Amino acid sequence: MSELNAPAGTPFFHYDNSQLMAESVSIAELAERYGTPLYVYSRAALKAAWESYAQPLTNRNALVCFGMKANSNLAVLQQFAQWGSGFDIVSGGELARALKAGAQADTIVFSGVGKQDWEIKAALQAGVKCFNVESTDELERISSIASQLGCVAPVSLRVNPDVDAKTHPYISTGLKDNKFGIAIEIAAQVYQRAAVLPGIRIVGVDCHIGSQITQIEPYLDALERLLNLLDTLAGIDIALEHLDIGGGLGIRYQDETPIAPAMLLDEVFAMLQARGYGHLQLIMEPGRSLVGNAGILVTRVQYLKHHQSKNFAIVDAAMNDLLRPTLYDAWHGVLPAVSRSGHSSEAQPRVYDIVGPICESGDWLARDRELQLSQNDLLVIESAGAYGFVMSCQYNSRPRCAEVMVDGDQSYLIRPRETVEELFASEQMLPG
Ligand code: LLP
Repeated sequence: MSELNAPAGTPFFHYDNSQLMAESVSIAELAERYGTPLYVYSRAALKAAWESYAQPLTNRNALVCFGMKANSNLAVLQQFAQWGSGFDIVSGGELARALKAGAQADTIVFSGVGKQDWEIKAALQAGVKCFNVESTDELERISSIASQLGCVAPVSLRVNPDVDAKTHPYISTGLKDNKFGIAIEIAAQVYQRAAVLPGIRIVGVDCHIGSQITQIEPYLDALERLLNLLDTLAGIDIALEHLDIGGGLGIRYQDETPIAPAMLLDEVFAMLQARGYGHLQLIMEPGRSLVGNAGILVTRVQYLKHHQSKNFAIVDAAMNDLLRPTLYDAWHGVLPAVSRSGHSSEAQPRVYDIVGPICESGDWLARDRELQLSQNDLLVIESAGAYGFVMSCQYNSRPRCAEVMVDGDQSYLIRPRETVEELFASEQMLPG
């Protein structure tokens, strides 16, 4: 078995007689059946990732709220809901999706800096567990909408602890220059304001410091600061029910060593106990680490261009299907769906840039990869289960990909490929 980006030692994506498999189904068969480009998820990989959180939390007062912005396909949400997950949402659209997929409203936390009236109203009417509030303006607005509806909004303040998560600047959120959260220096004051607002019930404290975090220290620094804040709050008679440490655990894309959830959770519970906060419910909002390595993007080589200084493999997936390389300079592994030993052609090994058909030089999926390629070969872009399909768009009027879930030897189409007609079905031309 080759070293693939699946949880260590797990057989979700593996070579079997030179065929790359998703569980017991070959990628070549999936490409034939559903076409390319194609997102493929492994249900067993999702379950294993879920268990990496659920097991260390057994018999602990804790709730995992899947950061569903990472992958919001209804079938994915449905699995997590069935396994007992709550959800971290950031929009009215995500609320509707989560409820549709079977989420219990009282396991939903609503994050995000720009909640609109209709979204606040919908979340109150659904009865979400809590709003993670990011500004005093938002706090006042939630209070007034709740009062109008004759209810009280459960609220947690998202505190910005000003710690460096040591990750890509675009996905770092806990520094004071980031737009997120309420500065920790003024948090106690905002809690005092919340305590007197008629439409607000204070239930917790929240922070989220960034994404693809591979070091434990930033979490512990942030927790330390939150616990100091809780001490201050206790001094002014503000008591909380839960503490939410956000999401952010990294995965292996290339050679990263991710932190196991169990390791982080052990440290967090030890700190809570030591500081006298063992009674609080712990919430986490993992996104990427639950889905990232459970998904791949399958694409077919259209054309090969061998220039003097550079070789290009032009594939049928593009930046509109997987934006991460273009946007963050992100590295994703690239594998042939049929390894060379099982291939009839005699292609030379060459160093390729894997690029899409979009009219932008920034349209690339991987750079400088040594591969033996022929036209029509299938390639797999690894670790595409998080922030893959959800960030896709229709630029260049390219219909969005199909998504498939593999479960053992079965595959299920969980989102059909968009048709060209669907691209403009709702557009209207001017009269005349
Ligand atoms: N909670 C909140 C409030 C968040 O903003 C996020 C992610 C999460 C939880 C989940 O974080 P995770 O466990 O997935 O790291 N598109 C970027 C990642 C953006 C993350 C935004 N916030 C990427 O492709 O790397």
